[in-house]
Amino acid sequence: MTRKIAKEDLRSRKWFMNPDDPEMTALYLERYLNYGLTREELQSGKPIIAIAQTGSDLSPCNRHHLELAKRVRDGIVSAGGTCIEVPVHPIQETGKRPTAMLDRNLAYLSLVETLFGYPIDGVVLTIGCDKTTPALLMAAATVNIPAIALSVGPMLNGWYEGKRAGSGTVVWKARELLAAGEIDDDGFMEMVASSAPSVGYCNTMGTATTMNSLAEALGMQLPGSAAIPAPYRERAQMAYETGKRAVEMVWEDHRPSDVMTREAFENAIVVNSAIGGSTNAPIHLNAIARHLGVPLDNDDWQKLGHHIPLLVNLQPAGEYLGEDYQRAGGVPAVVGALMRAGLLPHPDAVTVNGRSMGDNCGEAVSTNADVIKGVDAPMMAEAGFINLKGNLFDSAIMKTSVISDEFRTRYLENPEDPNAFEGRAVVFDGPEDFHHRIDDEAEGIDEHCILFMRGAGPKGYPGGAEVVNMRAPAYLLKQGIHALPCVGDGRQSGTSGSPSILNAAPEAADNGGLALLQTGDRVRIDLTKCTADMLVPVDELKKRAEALEKAGGYAVPDNQSPWQEYFRSLVGRFDEGMTLKGADQYRDIARK
Ligand code: FES
Ligand code: MG
Repeated sequence: MTRKIAKEDLRSRKWFMNPDDPEMTALYLERYLNYGLTREELQSGKPIIAIAQTGSDLSPCNRHHLELAKRVRDGIVSAGGTCIEVPVHPIQETGKRPTAMLDRNLAYLSLVETLFGYPIDGVVLTIGCDKTTPALLMAAATVNIPAIALSVGPMLNGWYEGKRAGSGTVVWKARELLAAGEIDDDGFMEMVASSAPSVGYCNTMGTATTMNSLAEALGMQLPGSAAIPAPYRERAQMAYETGKRAVEMVWEDHRPSDVMTREAFENAIVVNSAIGGSTNAPIHLNAIARHLGVPLDNDDWQKLGHHIPLLVNLQPAGEYLGEDYQRAGGVPAVVGALMRAGLLPHPDAVTVNGRSMGDNCGEAVSTNADVIKGVDAPMMAEAGFINLKGNLFDSAIMKTSVISDEFRTRYLENPEDPNAFEGRAVVFDGPEDFHHRIDDEAEGIDEHCILFMRGAGPKGYPGGAEVVNMRAPAYLLKQGIHALPCVGDGRQSGTSGSPSILNAAPEAADNGGLALLQTGDRVRIDLTKCTADMLVPVDELKKRAEALEKAGGYAVPDNQSPWQEYFRSLVGRFDEGMTLKGADQYRDIARK
């Protein structure tokens, strides 16, 4: 360990050991003594390490962090630090209404203020459930004190009648069985609950496994940390090692800006394709990058990630679950395979342990080629996203690898116009409107229609709703037409495998082109040129824009809480990370 800073330089000394102001020192100090901390622990030059605690009874996915924190604390103390556990605003993906995404920026803001305003030298970020990971990495980026992430780990594999039952994906199957009368309500509940057999986060490759894997690929977790299931002994051992390392990082002054460089983000984009990562990942990584001042946009995602093969065979795209991912080697095995094929752009990117990604993972191999495939025999050849543009929006992403054969045959294999299609737009304003109208035969929806969902972006449905993957009308399903093309300014769940064009920005509620679209308009989508346009004359669009402005703009539902109001007035676009306006001006604030 190369020490860069002396104990006199510790940030916490400004509070607990300020020779110029003994009075304030006493005031700052006395209340931290009242529960049993000693002056030695606070004044002898031990780094104060915060555990940013996201676990609580309200956040079951991360609740196991309450246990793991004990081992983190042991690690901190054994390395000569003092531990202070601090609560983070709770975020539970499955419990928060209207959407957990609304709270990502709230948790970010409050953690920034906590880390900045208190005597904290370094921080352990307890990540896990979908939005907790980006919220904490964003805060670490802004404050820029030494920080290391610890994943809570996925749940054990779920099993139902001898088959793997994965978070989220089991619900789709259970719905079909319920509809077919093969199970009743209790059977439905039992089947869904079978996917959640232990503490931990979703065991599928949803947004949680994606973001935890990417936190490791960015270099922010110890190697091998992301995939260990929550109840495994290795998880608690990793917690101990993470606590120890946090103290060393303070002495080394090893900061988030040293780890999360442009190179690290490029590595993470490549890893995201190889694991079959969620379409929420670009929003979150673009946000973290923004708070560090690292340029990153959806063109980067297409350029760096689209051609990368899918290696990890996890549900929903594949068969397996979290325990299998861990046993096959987790993130290091994926990174090792990419490196040996020359696909990891920056093996020399530095990680939290002070070593490079290449040093950490270069030798790692998959121990089960069925779960983590080789680059020579991947699940799919091109697993990343494309970034579409046109008069409907400036940016929207699509995971082309999940296009089904049925979809490909119907829409993309026209010899006169390959990889492109035109259709009649059917426009829905929010999920309620969709549910009202989708099965109404009077709408005349057929296989030549393209379904649009708008009013579902960051401002429209505060935080953005996961509603763009829309089902076809019941009468078309009966005819064997399973999926119509879907486009929208909302998101879609990481556990859904639908090939929607989503996260469109700017959204309808932010004067995006989608607000001008009308049911009946012709729309053209070209997946080779990466374009999406309404075939409506410019004059007509101008007229519609004027009418919309006169009417006071695209209408959104009322705010239900003060935060919804603040959020809507400050939030940016999905392609720019959905960060709060102006927040990215504040960088490296702990040094100021
Ligand atoms: Fe929390 Fe999936 S709901 S990780
Ligand atoms: Mg989700």
